[in-house]
Amino acid sequence: MAPQFAAAGFLTGLLALATFASCNTEGDILYKQRLAWEDPNNVLQSWNSTLANPCTWFHVTCNNNNFVIRVDLGNAGISGPLLPDLAEIQNLQYIELYGNGLNGSIPETLGNLTNLISLDLWDNLLTGEIPTTLGSVSTLRYLRLYQNNLTGPIPSSFGNLTSLLESKLQENSLSGAIPASLGNIKALQFSRLNDNMLTGTVPSKSFPLSTFGNLTELNTDRNNLDGTRTSSGLRVTAIIQDALKTA
Ligand SMILES: *[C@@H]1O[C@H](CO)[C@@H](O)[C@H](O)[C@H]1NC(C)=O
Ligand SMILES: *[C@@H]1O[C@H](CO)[C@@H](O)[C@H](O)[C@H]1NC(C)=O
Ligand SMILES: *[C@@H]1O[C@H](CO)[C@@H](O)[C@H](O)[C@H]1NC(C)=O
Ligand SMILES: *[C@@H]1O[C@H](CO)[C@@H](O)[C@H](O)[C@H]1NC(C)=O
Ligand SMILES: *[C@@H]1O[C@H](CO)[C@@H](O)[C@H](O)[C@H]1NC(C)=O
Ligand SMILES: *[C@@H]1O[C@H](CO)[C@@H](O)[C@H](O)[C@H]1NC(C)=O
Repeated sequence: MAPQFAAAGFLTGLLALATFASCNTEGDILYKQRLAWEDPNNVLQSWNSTLANPCTWFHVTCNNNNFVIRVDLGNAGISGPLLPDLAEIQNLQYIELYGNGLNGSIPETLGNLTNLISLDLWDNLLTGEIPTTLGSVSTLRYLRLYQNNLTGPIPSSFGNLTSLLESKLQENSLSGAIPASLGNIKALQFSRLNDNMLTGTVPSKSFPLSTFGNLTELNTDRNNLDGTRTSSGLRVTAIIQDALKTA
């Protein structure tokens, strides 16, 4: 081999090595997340960095190419923060972390998860605002953030979640108006916004979904919303909202 080719080959090899070393593997990311969590029930015992491939770990599912697609840790007794690094697990489809003691905020990096189908973070101790970036996850079908203490507005970017079937944001401390853009989500079946601090009116123009779409439940009960919306489409089996606030 001519020396210049050998040198080029050597350089390419070095470059590959450097890239590999600077790029966290999915196992590294999950292991880092393990270390950030309290795990009194030891459910994460198999998440051991000495095992290069996380596909053999409990509560982790991979696809046929050994990329992580699910993390299933509902009601697992874990607590602590969600690391922004989780968004580097690019093939992640299901984040099932409900019923734990997760605290801190929802990382805005999760908006980078372009394959995410289900974000189940309900019944935790999460605070802070819902990241606007989640509106970029066009694959999202199940967004269940209820029973936390999330504050701030419902991002109007959620109107871009055209695959969304379930939006369960109830029992938080969300404030501001219900974004009219939610009316763009034609696939939406359940929209639970009850038990927050939402203000303004239910934008009836934004919910033609009840007649044209698949919306069967829109629950806006127990907020600070004005007035009421009286007409419900035929397909709406339950529109539950504040009682009319007139004497
Ligand atoms: C990982 O596995 C090795 C070998 O089985 C064991 O010695 C080590 O204690 C484990 N580490 C953790 C953090 O569980
Ligand atoms: C989360 O909970 C842990 C343990 O109770 C606490 O040390 C930490 O400060 C909390 N973090 C936030 C952001 O509330
Ligand atoms: C991921 O998301 C963060 C925050 O939304 C952003 O700053 C960052 O550029 C994104 N990273 C990639 C690799 O897309
Ligand atoms: C959502 O779509 C609107 C246009 O309808 C666009 O301006 C906005 O940037 C999008 N937001 C996100 C988070 O994708
Ligand atoms: C939730 O957050 C709001 C605003 O920060 C605060 O007033 C309220 O006490 C919190 N509720 C709970 C149950 O922690
Ligand atoms: C409504 O539901 C039906 C039956 O599940 C489905 O075929 C249709 O595509 C849905 N409509 C929208 C707008 O998603």
